[in-house]
Amino acid sequence: MCGIVGYCGPRDPVDVVVAGLRRLEYRGYDSAGVAVPADGRIREVKKAGRIANLEAALAADPLPSSGAGIGHTRWATHGAPVDLNAHPHVSADGRIALVHNGIVENWASLRTELEADGVAPVSETDTEIAVHLLARAVAGGIDLTTAMRQVAPRLEGAFTLVAVDAHDPGTVVAARRNSPLVVGVGQGEHFVASDVAAFIAHTREAIELGQDQVVTITADTVEVTDLDGAPGEVRPYHVDWDLAAAEKGGHDWFMRKEIHEQPEAIAHTLLGRHDVDGRLVLDELRISEEELRLVDTIVVIACGSSFYAGMVAKYAIEHWARIPCEVELASEFRYRDPIVGPRTLVVAISQSGETADTLMAIRHARAQQARVLSICNTNGSTIARESDAVIHTHAGPEIGVASTKGFLTQLVACYLLGLYLAQLRGTKFDDEIAAVVAELERMPVMVQQVLDDHGVVTELAAELAGARSILFLGRHVGYPIALEGALKLKELAYIHAEGFAAGELKHGPIALIEQDLPVFVVVPPQGRDQLHTKVVSNIQEIRARGARTVVLAEEGDPIAAAHASVLITLPKVSTLLQPLVAVVPLQLFACELATRQGHDVDHPRNLAKSVTVE
Ligand code: M6R
Repeated sequence: MCGIVGYCGPRDPVDVVVAGLRRLEYRGYDSAGVAVPADGRIREVKKAGRIANLEAALAADPLPSSGAGIGHTRWATHGAPVDLNAHPHVSADGRIALVHNGIVENWASLRTELEADGVAPVSETDTEIAVHLLARAVAGGIDLTTAMRQVAPRLEGAFTLVAVDAHDPGTVVAARRNSPLVVGVGQGEHFVASDVAAFIAHTREAIELGQDQVVTITADTVEVTDLDGAPGEVRPYHVDWDLAAAEKGGHDWFMRKEIHEQPEAIAHTLLGRHDVDGRLVLDELRISEEELRLVDTIVVIACGSSFYAGMVAKYAIEHWARIPCEVELASEFRYRDPIVGPRTLVVAISQSGETADTLMAIRHARAQQARVLSICNTNGSTIARESDAVIHTHAGPEIGVASTKGFLTQLVACYLLGLYLAQLRGTKFDDEIAAVVAELERMPVMVQQVLDDHGVVTELAAELAGARSILFLGRHVGYPIALEGALKLKELAYIHAEGFAAGELKHGPIALIEQDLPVFVVVPPQGRDQLHTKVVSNIQEIRARGARTVVLAEEGDPIAAAHASVLITLPKVSTLLQPLVAVVPLQLFACELATRQGHDVDHPRNLAKSVTVE
């Protein structure tokens, strides 16, 4: 978690860094700080709470001008979110300032070593240890880059470190392991940051950094090396979205903007996926067709909403490609000694591409010889880099902590993968695949229809703003959507919300039903008769016990409508693709309800967008 920015160039580094931190605030918002080297020493300002607090402190006590600066927005791990624990941390001699994202696991033994050397850390953080180690190294007469190469290998765990030295005020030095860092390449200026959003206002040219690389930037130069000082591989890329995509565009929340961007995000994710004959082509798949034909098991690993996208993927992949598919929480995967091998395809789904649980599961799978294909929204992210193959979703930057367009485009990528495997293995005829692809291509219009028709959802959110508990039911692919609806409500509105497989009701959860309890039910399209009938029976069961039923059913479904206290109509789509339209009212509902409750929808309490700690 945590967002980091560093800058070298002619602009005021404090302005550049603070503006960058604002764009990274989704990564953590417990405290924020900035430091510059000036007049032979470090000057820093840091404040607990949101970046606005930092800005107020800077306005009251401005920092001097400088040629470089670093900053940090924190999601607290070690130490409470108070001023003292905020980054940047400064060495006792005032020479080095450091910001850090990650966790230094061996901080306690390093602290003991420093204390024995007469250093007395003042904060409760693991980060402070690293700044003292750097200060001790440069005091021995080496430059900050060399010091970083010495100190980084001593740290265990995950880190991005970015530092400045008051004796070399035009330089910023950074290093990374298991935590994100990109370089922004401008005209006579350079940036380092956790995410390109921090510098997209200034440049769209970026460099990906590899594991255990050290980068030194000045206004005019970028030097990338490994920890031994050998030149590192430099992988430049162009960012295909711009500043407008990272701003709210007239909406009150990023989340609302991102919900409304979903038709376009789906269309972008589908672009260029088939040739003129209608055959699917996934060019980013760097796994040979032969290997994919030999796959005998698929294991999907992911967390949170991405996990629910994986649950939908299971239905699609097994139905179309007839390959057994398991779905597992990434945080559980490696702890159960999973049976995977060369014929297992592990599909890792991650919007950010930086989720530590998912990354660690990928590494475990690769160590067992499995091939890993990731579905990722962030170009150059660690998960994308460490996978054998990637299907990039093209949702554009997702800033709101609650995943929306990230989730929908993950679903699209999962469908494409299922269809591609079916094509490759001949489990579906070409015309059958083409028909599903054509339906996918109509989805932007369908999703737009749901967005245009959200009056009922807005009224419902007003009505239920005081609810203490809300349940969600679904069956088949409606089940993960019920889970996703409940997750959205928990994370944004902080009320008790649970999703159930509708068939499980009678095995326990039905005891929760009481008079007027709101229960959302995702009803499958009428085509699958048995499924539809079963869910309608479930609605009758809960209605008979007093539940207020909010029924999501396709238009022209009189049977479902007859059992609805409130009816939300969905466009007619096929069963497997229904999640793409059914989840949208649930996203809107959670966003609206949380807004009415006065919560900060883009920054829910205790959460961060990118969870880079296990
Ligand atoms: O970036 P990832 O897709 O790996 O993130 C996984 C989860 O942390 C994420 O989906 C989380 O559950 C969202 N806040 C849900 O809205």
